Amino acid sequence: MSPALRCVVLIVAAGSGTRLGAGIPKALVPLPGGATILEHCLQGVDRSHQGSHRGRLVGVVVVVPPDPAAAERLEQVCASAAERTGLPLRTVPGGRERADSVRAGLSACAALGDEPGAAAPVTHVLVHDAARPFVPPAVFQRVEDALEAGAAAVVPAVPVTDTVKTVAPWADTVKAPGLAGTGSEPAPFQVVDTPVRAALRAVQTPQGFELAALLRAHESARRAGEDAAALTDDSMLMEAAGHTVAVVNGDAESFKITSALDLALAAAVLQERSATSPQTA
Ligand code: C5P
Repeated sequence: MSPALRCVVLIVAAGSGTRLGAGIPKALVPLPGGATILEHCLQGVDRSHQGSHRGRLVGVVVVVPPDPAAAERLEQVCASAAERTGLPLRTVPGGRERADSVRAGLSACAALGDEPGAAAPVTHVLVHDAARPFVPPAVFQRVEDALEAGAAAVVPAVPVTDTVKTVAPWADTVKAPGLAGTGSEPAPFQVVDTPVRAALRAVQTPQGFELAALLRAHESARRAGEDAAALTDDSMLMEAAGHTVAVVNGDAESFKITSALDLALAAAVLQERSATSPQTA
């Protein structure tokens, strides 16, 4: 059993949102009702904090885009969220890739515990994508419970519904088949493996970690010159560092807003929430 958790939620919101095509950083995209994706995400953290968490959350760090105009707008959103929750909230500029943004945020998480008035050092961090605005409080709680039970790394996950293939560039010993008559390009890839679907999980956020261990894992990846673009989540760094990563149940509502179709899903979630519980939508 770990000593009492003192968790900071690290929200990475520095992505450009190119795939969404809104022309503004994704975290600033408004959802039906007017609140932005980041506002919904912060409301989720607040709900989790107000829930049965017994003071486990001690602060929030939001990583914002390096572009000053976008950063200023996101900082305004953060300032009003901080007033609501009463939790200390800091913002820091992000980097080119998600892993760079997480690394920038981790130092700020550690610093929160060293500030004058802080009761004790920060022990754990929950790394969370701003692009997942509807994570239910129960998911935060499951991740925190696993940390409290002693796990150094925890991911929420859901079974995958598609069969997933490993692919590789088409071997040039065989001519790639064109799709005759369709005008399409030849297939650029071929399947090299089909993992057993029952053993696969799609992992979501928040992912929970011992703060010092995650800082070390990121630092060794940086020193080893790992390609930051290939580091698509943080638990993979903990795996590489030899930690066991615990898996808890995620939730379908924790989906990540990536494309325009996901905005339609977001609208449906909000409609459903306002129908079932008007004050939480
Ligand atoms: O693009 P991707 O799906 O990896 O983004 C996941 C999360 O990481 C998003 O919330 C996005 O804002 C954040 N991100 C970031 N800095 C980057 C790229 C992505 O904070 N350079």
